[in-house]
Amino acid sequence: MDLGFLGFPNLSTQQFQNQRNIPGDPGEMLLDADTKRRVAVWLTNSKRPLWIYGPTGCGKTMLAEWIAHKTGRGLIRFSGHGGIEIEDLIGHLTLVDGEVVHQDGPVTTAMKEGSMLVLDEGDLIHPDVWTSLHAVLEGNPLVINKGGVTTIQPRPGFQIIVTANSKGNGENRDSYRGTKEMNQATLNRFTRLRMDYMPEPVELGIVKAKASPKMRGIADRFIQAANKIRESHIKGELSRGISTRDIIAWMATTKLFVETGLGPHDALIEALGTVWADGLDDDEAVAAKNLAILAFPEN
Ligand SMILES: Nc1ncnc2c1ncn2[C@@H]1O[C@H](COP(=O)(O)OP(=O)(O)OP(=O)(O)O)[C@@H](O)[C@H]1O
Ligand SMILES: [Mg+2]
Repeated sequence: MDLGFLGFPNLSTQQFQNQRNIPGDPGEMLLDADTKRRVAVWLTNSKRPLWIYGPTGCGKTMLAEWIAHKTGRGLIRFSGHGGIEIEDLIGHLTLVDGEVVHQDGPVTTAMKEGSMLVLDEGDLIHPDVWTSLHAVLEGNPLVINKGGVTTIQPRPGFQIIVTANSKGNGENRDSYRGTKEMNQATLNRFTRLRMDYMPEPVELGIVKAKASPKMRGIADRFIQAANKIRESHIKGELSRGISTRDIIAWMATTKLFVETGLGPHDALIEALGTVWADGLDDDEAVAAKNLAILAFPEN
């Protein structure tokens, strides 16, 4: 199919038959031109697995779902963490009615179905687990040598997409605890897709699309406030930044606090606290709220 949905009707991506678990519409994904171009280039030749990395709440998981929805691809999602062992991914032998059978994990299920497998937080998974998947990452069959040799062939359409907060080099560990440094040979098998919070006009479109009609008119104020917070984070004054996900939640929660009878100013502060700021140290939370409120002068 052509990639008109990314603005490149001259490019196309392969379609696969009999896809199961095609995700529903996750809502419109708004992307800047550079990100669209990177996604389009990968989709035209998507043989290699994809490592999508960027800060929390910038749309990485949504992007994977959106791609699957738009291109009619089955999708299985699995969340990575530090305790994952290879059997959690490729399945294990188990007894069924006195017979030893192989029970699939997300990787083998996706291989058999020819689906996309989205491994969220893939950089939390131990590098040794990843190295056992090298053949699979290259599109080769998985050979399991336990209780006899089982070979699992990947059906056309099988694809691994990792979403992560790091490039896999073990960077950003202060902000994202548990991030592992991957084996370079693992990373070498991936195509990388860098993501970040969208530029102001695009992010404004994203939050407006999610906002109630009443809040939509002041969405630009929320974006301005978020950008003040981000600048302060970059300067090192605040230990954390604020994500697109947080801004959407902040707007929705402000509306709810107003409905409980709070005035707009207090509602904004209460909501920012509950969705984001109160997770900071107390002094920082106060500073962040004072900074954010500057974007709402008439309140
Ligand atoms: N470009 C975008 N277009 C539309 N919505 C977006 C976009 N970016 C983020 N969002 C909104 O932000 C929410 C959070 O995005 P998502 O869960 O994909 O973030 P993530 O990058 O996977 O974060 P994490 O690293 O915490 O898993 C989405 O559900 C969506 O509402
Ligand atoms: Mg995610």
